[in-house]
Amino acid sequence: MINAQTQLYGIIGNPVRHSLSPIIHNGAFRRMGLNAAYLAFEVENLAAAISGIRGLGIRGVSVTIPFKTAIIPFLDQLEEVAGKIQAVNTICHEGGKLIGHNTDWRGAVEALEEKIELREKKVLLLGAGGAARAIAFGLQERGCQVFIANRSLEKGRKLAATMGFACLPLAAIKGLDVQVIINATSVGMHPQDSESPWPKELLKEGIVVMDIVYQPVRTKFLHEAEERGCRTIDGLEMLARQGAAQIEIWTGKKPDIRSIKGDLQRALE
Ligand code: ATR
Repeated sequence: MINAQTQLYGIIGNPVRHSLSPIIHNGAFRRMGLNAAYLAFEVENLAAAISGIRGLGIRGVSVTIPFKTAIIPFLDQLEEVAGKIQAVNTICHEGGKLIGHNTDWRGAVEALEEKIELREKKVLLLGAGGAARAIAFGLQERGCQVFIANRSLEKGRKLAATMGFACLPLAAIKGLDVQVIINATSVGMHPQDSESPWPKELLKEGIVVMDIVYQPVRTKFLHEAEERGCRTIDGLEMLARQGAAQIEIWTGKKPDIRSIKGDLQRALE
């Protein structure tokens, strides 16, 4: 029940009306028995939103497009990896201070670590946008050898140079023997369900294949990976885990990932 003790959390972004974050957080809060509520705020004026967070004592905030980098100058402190990525998806309001974190990379890395020990593994990362950038830092943090491929080669090269990774043209990448392939592009997302970011015939049996696309949950890329005998991780896994990591930062308690995934699956049906 919402009462005078209820702690408020939320997400700021624009647009934000299709966000699944309220589903993740309100379901988890309820199961954890926390007197907390989570709302979506479509923000026009970031400075005013920050004043609101401070003034109203909102305890924790998720940050999404287009504010992940723009928010940084407004914060009092930045956790180390969020500083390296230069993107914040989580604010923790603690002792009057706004502290910025990034749980996107943790969501991806923890999902992968359920399937494979990452250290020194060769990973092919498809994409060089915001999501790819967070994942790249996570892979670097875990000591992977990463190859980046991106539609616009220049953008791929820029990300690779920042990270000390390789960015290869498609022809060279095709011959690589990698243990993990991650799609961090939007290819395969509804309504382009019939597209895949990577040729089926190049998917080797036994490798781990992860997709960040979750609409549809079972993308063409994952479907073909399963047909080729790969071990697959769907986009809801990273989404659920980045949210779970936020709750852990805010409350010090770990929510149940399987239940969060169940809530997300039902919301998408
Ligand atoms: P996000 O923050 O979700 O990562 P983004 O920053 O817009 O979104 O990045 C989208 C990524 O998907 C980019 O790597 C983009 O490639 P470009 O850098 O060449 O634009 C990739 N992408 C989107 N549509 C694509 C398509 N049809 N084919 C190949 N790559 C595509």
